[in-house]
Amino acid sequence: MLDAKQLRDAFEKDYQLGLPQLDKIHEEFVTLLLETINSSADAFIRNFQRLFEHTQLHFFEEEARMAAFEFAGFAEHSADHALLLQVLEQMNEAVAKGETDTAKAWLNEQLPEWFDRHTRTMDSAAADWVGAHAVG
Ligand SMILES: [Fe+2]
Ligand SMILES: [Fe+2]
Repeated sequence: MLDAKQLRDAFEKDYQLGLPQLDKIHEEFVTLLLETINSSADAFIRNFQRLFEHTQLHFFEEEARMAAFEFAGFAEHSADHALLLQVLEQMNEAVAKGETDTAKAWLNEQLPEWFDRHTRTMDSAAADWVGAHAVG
């Protein structure tokens, strides 16, 4: 199983896609994920909220860029974002009420795998497209 620490350690080698703005937001995501996992109880609630908001922005920016470059895989990619955001939103509501066990397990066991899969496939394809179609 891939964990958040492994993601962080392998970030430069395995997850850079060559678009500086996108790489920056992915690096922030991985850092924030690890920080949230390692948080004490109070900070966990706050950091989970930050992770949720950061992910909304992350997906919004990716989708705006894909739309601007008329990326053919837009619908499939944004659907994967929507599913993940739905789960994150539900988890965030539970965490805000102090129900943190499920969210902690999900951050440890599911989200790193999701990031690995999504970044290597969908984000990588979108970055290649944008890179090939960007002027200058
Ligand atoms: Fe992404
Ligand atoms: Fe994405």
